[in-house]
Amino acid sequence: MPSIFDPFDLGPIRLKNRIVMAPMERSRARNGDWVPQADTARYFAQRAGAAFIVTGSIAISEWARTWAFEPGLYTRTQIEAWRHVTGEVHDHGGVIFGQLRHGGRASHVSHQPHRQATVSSRDVGATKAISMAFDADGKPAFLLQSKPRALLTDEVPIIVGEFAQAARNALEGGFDGVEIHAANGYLHDQFMNGALNTRNDRYGGSIDNRIRFTLETVDAVIDAIGRERTGIRLSPFGRFNEMPAFEDEAETYLRLAGELAKRNIAYVHVSDQTRWADDVSIPSNYLRDFRKVSQRPLILSGGYLETNGQAAIDNDEADLIAVGKPFLANPDLVERLRNGWPLNEWDTETFYTQGPEGYIDYPFYQDRPAS
Ligand SMILES: Cc1cc2nc3c(=O)[nH]c(=O)nc-3n(C[C@H](O)[C@H](O)[C@H](O)COP(=O)(O)O)c2cc1C
Repeated sequence: MPSIFDPFDLGPIRLKNRIVMAPMERSRARNGDWVPQADTARYFAQRAGAAFIVTGSIAISEWARTWAFEPGLYTRTQIEAWRHVTGEVHDHGGVIFGQLRHGGRASHVSHQPHRQATVSSRDVGATKAISMAFDADGKPAFLLQSKPRALLTDEVPIIVGEFAQAARNALEGGFDGVEIHAANGYLHDQFMNGALNTRNDRYGGSIDNRIRFTLETVDAVIDAIGRERTGIRLSPFGRFNEMPAFEDEAETYLRLAGELAKRNIAYVHVSDQTRWADDVSIPSNYLRDFRKVSQRPLILSGGYLETNGQAAIDNDEADLIAVGKPFLANPDLVERLRNGWPLNEWDTETFYTQGPEGYIDYPFYQDRPAS
């Protein structure tokens, strides 16, 4: 049985262990160009001991923007800025994938060019879900998501093209690959969800139609940068951002898994939301079946650490485990887990704030003050 600390071959990339840093948006691109800065390079370089790093969500275009101060990958300045980040991670022996996102309705008009409407599969908005956005005075605030308009049929391929371009930009920016964010209630999820997406064009209705946008995105990204550099994040049975339950949910994701198997991409990352929300549960054995059908390396995340992560690997549910909040608070997480050293606690107050505090000042175990 492989150990979570053993190397893993992700296509051509040899990973030094099986503990991935989960994607976490940290709102640190605090400039009008939405570029990552030196502190972001430092933050990720400190965490280069991960099997590989998945960045927090990166906007693929201006209208994809979802969260205040999220970085982008659609301008020359952004590409250049990312080169510094990826360069520093590589200098520290790390591997880094960029997570590409279009938030769809999970956004706010203050993120949109000219405050234009946000978009989704339908003109149905969330009622309680929030976006970190900008208030009437231009100050960052947690605001209710705006009501979207439905995307026109011929706008969908435009977004597919923007994903492909952002993937090309990612490679130019020095990334080792990209993760298409099709999880957690963002635009792709808004298309796959059968209760939300009742469109009557080629992108709505049947399972094949609802997964079409996701598969077109995967195909376009593969064409742009190659299958071995293309990963995807999904959240079957996820309810975050007010995704409603729907009848053929299990079947929808199994159909998608089968299509991903044919495409032979680098990995499938499952965001398991059962530990963040009361109303989420993944049927028993579902992940095992899903992994069997997808035939791709499966990353599992959501409340996992070395013990339950190893159990998921032993149980054929996962190949790799992605860790979020504990990685945020422990730059040397893998070393701490390997040695049984205690972990720093994370501070939720500084998840989305400014400056080094709660970002690059979590201590390494070796640097702790002598007691
Ligand atoms: C501050 C913060 C930001 C997050 N941002 C993202 C994101 O940008 N993309 C994403 O797919 N998930 C995001 N997540 C979800 C995490 O990737 C992960 O699935 C979740 O935290 C559960 O894993 P954990 O229990 O190991 O933290 C975020 C979570 C946190 C705490």
